[in-house]
Amino acid sequence: MPKPIFISFEGPEGAGKTSVLEALISELKTKLGDNLVTTREPGGNPISEVIRSILQPEEDNGMDKRTEALLYTAARRQHLVENIKPALDQNKIVISDRYVDSSLAYQGGGRGLGIDNIWEINQFAIDGLLPDMTIYLDVPVEIGLARVNENRQGKIDRLDKESISFHQKVRETYLKLQSEFSDRIKIVDATQPLNKVIDDTRILINQILEDKS
Ligand code: TMP
Repeated sequence: MPKPIFISFEGPEGAGKTSVLEALISELKTKLGDNLVTTREPGGNPISEVIRSILQPEEDNGMDKRTEALLYTAARRQHLVENIKPALDQNKIVISDRYVDSSLAYQGGGRGLGIDNIWEINQFAIDGLLPDMTIYLDVPVEIGLARVNENRQGKIDRLDKESISFHQKVRETYLKLQSEFSDRIKIVDATQPLNKVIDDTRILINQILEDKS
């Protein structure tokens, strides 16, 4: 009988999360078939996708930062109830592109709301459900933002317009969380060539699949 496994992916802008996930998910689909469920935050179901559209508007909508934190958290709650929990209950392997650490890093660190405050509201939402493993792709801000500017082809979203210091605080918070919860959060050096980042990430995923088998 397979065991449920919950893996989240995290990283600041330009860490290459999307490319790494695309490569590994197609490999894992071949190996795991329907036992693999992939999803993303904010989103994953109709309610959370509507919240995503409010959080990521075309134009600045003047959203208050606590409102933003609550909306990410609300989207997460619905994602957990509709997507993550049912899949884990069926012993599936769930890979989520972002989860609670994004709120801790972006809203707690980047927006300056404080890790403890964001942790508190998220406790209410996630009710103790933490990933078995979180893979954090780490990249210095200058390198990450340079990649975003190269690849974005003119489309810039709200968070890309934040100051360098916002992005620096996001990364610092991720690094702090990683050192504090090093059993759960595994770091991958995302300044390496993409193939090497994919290789390092694959090793971590294979390790947890093995540990849990
Ligand atoms: P992505 O689709 O590139 O992962 O972008 C999602 C954006 O949403 C990214 O800039 C980080 C941001 N975000 C938060 O600020 N807080 C959160 O809790 C989540 C899930 C995402």
